[in-house]
Amino acid sequence: MKTLLVYASKNGFTGKAAGLLAQKLAGDVQMVDLVREKAPDPAGYDTVVVGGSVYMGKVQPQVSAFLQQNTDVLLQKKLGLFLCCARLEQLEEQMKAAFPEPLYSHGVREHLGHAYDFQRMNFFERAIIRKLAKVSESEECLNTGNLEQLAGALG
Ligand SMILES: Cc1cc2nc3c(=O)[nH]c(=O)nc-3n(C[C@H](O)[C@H](O)[C@H](O)COP(=O)(O)O)c2cc1C
Repeated sequence: MKTLLVYASKNGFTGKAAGLLAQKLAGDVQMVDLVREKAPDPAGYDTVVVGGSVYMGKVQPQVSAFLQQNTDVLLQKKLGLFLCCARLEQLEEQMKAAFPEPLYSHGVREHLGHAYDFQRMNFFERAIIRKLAKVSESEECLNTGNLEQLAGALG
């Protein structure tokens, strides 16, 4: 079984979560960082997993472009969709915005947690997170239960 796992990350956590997920998936897994690499044609894979993180309500544009360009092919595949983001009260809304229909309904969706990395955030990001999230130190919260669940569902 061949799996394509494409993801986009700004401060690194989504890449880390994608790597841990890849270790749990059976068969041959190809990971592609959409920010740095060109995505291969998903037609040649049995399973496709797409992940991103949310900034000011939006997933990375590379994730949106990949989904838009490959919607028809992705609807023929076993599809995993995951987000890394901190605002759980907005999770469903953000999932729907990141993974629009019909892919939202077709895919298995999970939230894999979030991290704030103050070393990697820029000045403005640090200020926003201190003010809005009331967090002033780096933190990492990987949802291992959801990660196992997603890996299990993708078989
Ligand atoms: C400036 C900034 C804005 C953010 N905006 C949102 C948001 O709108 N909704 C949300 O759920 N999480 C938000 N987050 C939390 C990120 O989604 C979370 O930190 C995520 O793990 C980042 O993943 P990455 O390290 O792969 O980029 C924000 C974080 C930062 C630093």
